[in-house]
Amino acid sequence: MCGIVGYIGYRDAYPIVIKGLHRLEYRGYDSAGVALIDKDIKVYKKAGKVSDLEEFVKGVNLHGTIGMGHTRWATHGAPSDRNSHPHSSGDRRLTIIHNGIIENYAVIKEALLAKGHVFLSDTDTEVLIHLVEDIQKETGLDIREAVRVALNKVIGAYAIVIMSSDEPDQLIAARKGSPLVIGVGEGEYFVASDATPIVEYTKNVIYLNDNEIAYIRRDDLLIKNIDNTVQTPYIHELDLKLEMLEKGGYDHFMLKEIYEQPRSIRDCMRGRIYPKIGKVQLGGIKEYTDKLKNVDRILIVACGTSWHAGLVGEYLIEEYARVPVEVEYASEFRYRNPIITERDLVIAISQSGETADTMAAIELAKEKGATIFGVCNVVGASIPRITHAGVYTHAGPEIGVASTKAFTAQVTVLTLIAFYIAQQRGTITQSKLIELLTQLNEIPELVEKALQSNDHVKEIAAKFKDSRNCLFLGRGSSFPVALEGALKLKEISYIHAEGYPAAEMKHGPIALIDEEMPVVFIATKHSSYEKVISNIQEVKARGGKVIAIVTEGDTDVKAMADYVIEIPQTDEAFVPLLATIPLQLISYHIAVMRGCNVDQPRNLAKSVTVE
Ligand code: G6P
Repeated sequence: MCGIVGYIGYRDAYPIVIKGLHRLEYRGYDSAGVALIDKDIKVYKKAGKVSDLEEFVKGVNLHGTIGMGHTRWATHGAPSDRNSHPHSSGDRRLTIIHNGIIENYAVIKEALLAKGHVFLSDTDTEVLIHLVEDIQKETGLDIREAVRVALNKVIGAYAIVIMSSDEPDQLIAARKGSPLVIGVGEGEYFVASDATPIVEYTKNVIYLNDNEIAYIRRDDLLIKNIDNTVQTPYIHELDLKLEMLEKGGYDHFMLKEIYEQPRSIRDCMRGRIYPKIGKVQLGGIKEYTDKLKNVDRILIVACGTSWHAGLVGEYLIEEYARVPVEVEYASEFRYRNPIITERDLVIAISQSGETADTMAAIELAKEKGATIFGVCNVVGASIPRITHAGVYTHAGPEIGVASTKAFTAQVTVLTLIAFYIAQQRGTITQSKLIELLTQLNEIPELVEKALQSNDHVKEIAAKFKDSRNCLFLGRGSSFPVALEGALKLKEISYIHAEGYPAAEMKHGPIALIDEEMPVVFIATKHSSYEKVISNIQEVKARGGKVIAIVTEGDTDVKAMADYVIEIPQTDEAFVPLLATIPLQLISYHIAVMRGCNVDQPRNLAKSVTVE
């Protein structure tokens, strides 16, 4: 979604703001803008990337020690110069940047139009700043109070930062439903959608809560609730290193993140598995052991890649813990009056911990009395704060918009959850758990090995880079891996791709197969191996081109497929963690060869904070 950054202190604000926007650009990249206070407020904004904005302001005198910036992912109003943020009040005294949606903006706009307000953009954001202006005009309130009153009138989600030329030594920030972090320095403060623009300057941060407003001066911070009660902020220490936010010699963040997976999976398991004694320990959910023993049903809610991880989780939890699992798109779940009881457990999966649909699904399940666990990557994000308990994935910051290491970390956590519940319910023997955990413990090394196929995968990618369609097929827990493989290819190379259960192919997609159609099979030597071989033959018989992900040393599939990519042998439970790797690489190379923007694919945003 949109990215917000603000600075107030003793340094030049512009370089901090623009660097912050680059770090936040993964959140949205259709337009960008900055505002600086140097006596009065100056606003510069432009459709396009943050680099287009930089080009646009070249040669301009950009002085000022208070500034803010915004990178946008359009919701209301097409990407254009005039719809870019910041937006100003009619009298230009007030300026705002905003992430989120003001749902009742149309009603407010109508009332303001009737009073003579003139709007320069199609955005809901401009309406909000005009509302603040109008309240000041009507009531004579100072800017602090006027913002508070205005926020009490709006419905929707927001993270905002406001400047006023009447009180030029102040930034006002507020949040409801969209994230906002305040960095606390010495004689300076930072505000941002996440900690990435801040970590370079200070490790001390405050995560603003919903309905809080922060009044920030260089040497003073006051946080109030929108009902006007003063709040006591809690300062967290960031566990984030600057090098985590840089490409570290890789051409793209996506490639770096693919290669980080041996480490991220290891980090995700650290201190949680004890292979020698066959034990899984998950501190974040241990208080819910009784609940897990008696749970009737588990509902997994998520979006996008996280939903695919949820489908893998379904296989694992049902297999080992013997609890029925349903996996729901969060966006659909809340609109169909789902049957949820107090005996249900809901697991919400989200890399960002901010996805609006997932948050709404959690709220609904909570109202109905279910227990909610979160599986999130971003520490301190909204979802971990509204769930009862949870397990962090500890994959580290994921900057590439297409999710890679976050997916394998989610699958790892769900594997641990499956074993943990199985352990509590006695549905797995100690010896089996020892055997599985011993293999799981080796997965980081096996991922490392799977990554060694990179050059071979690149050669295969070169053959298929001009394809217009692609099918990804798998069975069992390799079916969600196929879905994820197809999503990766679609997202970053814009090739149409479908993931399907291999056996379902004959009920429809088989009609698409001809000499032009690459079909990627996950055909490892496990329970459905022979069946998948039959499916491969069905494709070959119709002239399709087969690329098969196979177990190391396989000869049967090799004899019939056009190309094979080997992954190391492991238990079936862990195949998703290995089979995903070549699929990520294949999409990456195809996208690079097609000249696509791998880290920032068109129209996408990393974290979707609107429904
Ligand atoms: C967006 C991203 C996807 C992600 C999905 C869910 O669409 O582009 O990569 O899978 O949101 O995000 P979450 O942060 O909840 O996992």
